[in-house]
Amino acid sequence: MARFPEVRSRRLRRTSALRRLFSETDLTPARLVLPLFVRDGAGVRNPVRSMPGVSQTSVDELLRDVERAAEHRLGGVILFGIPERKDATGSEAWSEQGAVQQAVRAIKREFPGIVVITDVCLCEYMEHGHCGIVRDGEVDNDATLELLARAAASHAAAGADIVAPSDMMDGRVAAIRARLDSDGFHGTAILSYAAKHASAFYGPFRDAAESAPAFGDRRSYQMDPANARESLREVRADLDEGADAIMVKPAGPCLDLIWRVREGTDHPVAAYQVSGEYAMIKAAAALGSIDESAAMMESLVAIRRAGADIIVTYFAVEAAARLRE
Ligand code: PBG
Repeated sequence: MARFPEVRSRRLRRTSALRRLFSETDLTPARLVLPLFVRDGAGVRNPVRSMPGVSQTSVDELLRDVERAAEHRLGGVILFGIPERKDATGSEAWSEQGAVQQAVRAIKREFPGIVVITDVCLCEYMEHGHCGIVRDGEVDNDATLELLARAAASHAAAGADIVAPSDMMDGRVAAIRARLDSDGFHGTAILSYAAKHASAFYGPFRDAAESAPAFGDRRSYQMDPANARESLREVRADLDEGADAIMVKPAGPCLDLIWRVREGTDHPVAAYQVSGEYAMIKAAAALGSIDESAAMMESLVAIRRAGADIIVTYFAVEAAARLRE
């Protein structure tokens, strides 16, 4: 076996041209999806305190963000709605005049070339902030399915290319697929948040989406962060029910799950670099502890290297700009 001094790993690292030639992982804007938070009104742009650079916007302002996303040739955007009114069934989630539904129609009219994904969940729309109907202090799985299907169908009717259920109820993919098909939306795809941990890293998102649970936590429906094999069961269940692509979330703390899911399935795999992952990099950079741009790129390349085809990230536009340099 050849070894030092004949073998020298550094030969292939000597110049940036060599490093580029031997890079094993490519990252392109087409793989990045930008999350956007939309609410009613006009001229609204409310910065999210815990997420520098991220805002809740009204549809008119949202279109400016989508324009930038389109200019940078991002893969797509994923929309989250903040309703004016919350109730016990999350009824604004399927309102034709809801902020998400209006935003989808506007994006499809103005920027037909960008993929529009909608997050399907009830937590933002429920007065208690849980992802489903609550009965006797518990989230009622089966009673929730019909409402999720209704919300997904309303997104499809508005023109969404992909609906992305993030609630973690059992059977939601089948319920949504059946409803989409019976409403004639055979072409609308489902990207399911299949392996989603009950993670502390969603904290800033709950500021942005105003969706923190009023009591308890999400551990009766989201996965225990200690579990990895369970993510494969979740993925298989969702694919069996008709998911077109699956998501792992969060991304950075779950690189092993991304890898396992990549190895365990032939379907497209998405990973969500969540609000807390973003906020940590921003906060450390603001303290002068790390180089923000370098940390951003390294975190995204790591997610891609682990096997993600698609990365949902609040850094999408900044990363695309950096890739263009
Ligand atoms: C809705 C939803 C959440 C996120 C995406 N969809 C919050 C949660 O499950 O509590 C988190 C995204 C992020 O942290 O960036 N259920």
